[in-house]
Amino acid sequence: MSARLIDGKAIAAELRVAVAAEVADLTKRGIKPGLAVVLVGEDPASRVYVRSKATQTVEAGMESFEHRLPADASEAALLALIEGLNGDPAVDGILVQLPLPAQINANRVLRAINPSKDVDGFHPINVGRVATGTGGIVPCTPLGSLLLLKSVRDNFAGLDAVIVGRSNIVGKPMAQLLLGESCTVTVCHSRSRDLPAICRRADILVAAVGRPEMIRGEWIKPGAIIIDVGINRVPTADGKSRLVGDVAFDEARKVANAITPVPGGVGPMTIACLLRNTVEAARQRRGLT
Ligand code: GUN
Repeated sequence: MSARLIDGKAIAAELRVAVAAEVADLTKRGIKPGLAVVLVGEDPASRVYVRSKATQTVEAGMESFEHRLPADASEAALLALIEGLNGDPAVDGILVQLPLPAQINANRVLRAINPSKDVDGFHPINVGRVATGTGGIVPCTPLGSLLLLKSVRDNFAGLDAVIVGRSNIVGKPMAQLLLGESCTVTVCHSRSRDLPAICRRADILVAAVGRPEMIRGEWIKPGAIIIDVGINRVPTADGKSRLVGDVAFDEARKVANAITPVPGGVGPMTIACLLRNTVEAARQRRGLT
């Protein structure tokens, strides 16, 4: 058996088309949604992400505002910038790229973002709303992962879902979304005992640990659906490098029912969901939803 590939690239492209159509509709009504992205410092990976976010925002017909602060910027300077964006009527979404330099307290920064403009869904108000199933902005990577799962089947009630990784960005919100889908959810982490045995119970396995190919083929239940959130760069024999996920893809593919590739799985969904969240924030702020 060879698992079906979940084509995140194609599904993200469809989502971007749908978002662009909504933007065109809003623009006709005199509303041009705007996304502000803030980058502190020069982390190369973060720079690449921020660039892609800006490009795709403009391609969707929205306004993009890029703000860059030096690596030694103070927390006060960043908070002042956020205060300005909170009050700027042209800005519907605010994203502060993580990680932040050590002198800045990320939690204080995330709490300073107006929850209605928090398109990352990291503000405690949105975290609480998602957890209680009372609306709220859903973080982009878990949202994208859920949309990929829904491309495979539409009802997950009663299934065993195992999430490897407990981050605030992926693991915890993913657990809330899958609980909302009536799965029985297990969240594993570095201190979990017998990880392979826990993974083997999973009808749905979400890997978000950031360790290249940690999850092996023997850890996978036959017929499982696998969402691989990992994006790890590993060296190759010829002195170059390649991207791999947290799942040993070639092994897992022989056992699973469906699996996301890396690259081309979850990655492209994240920015597409950011665009969707920005349009949604623009609508909600104007009472249009
Ligand atoms: N860094 C890695 N992933 C993310 C994300 O989803 N949002 C932000 N703001 N920073 C990140």
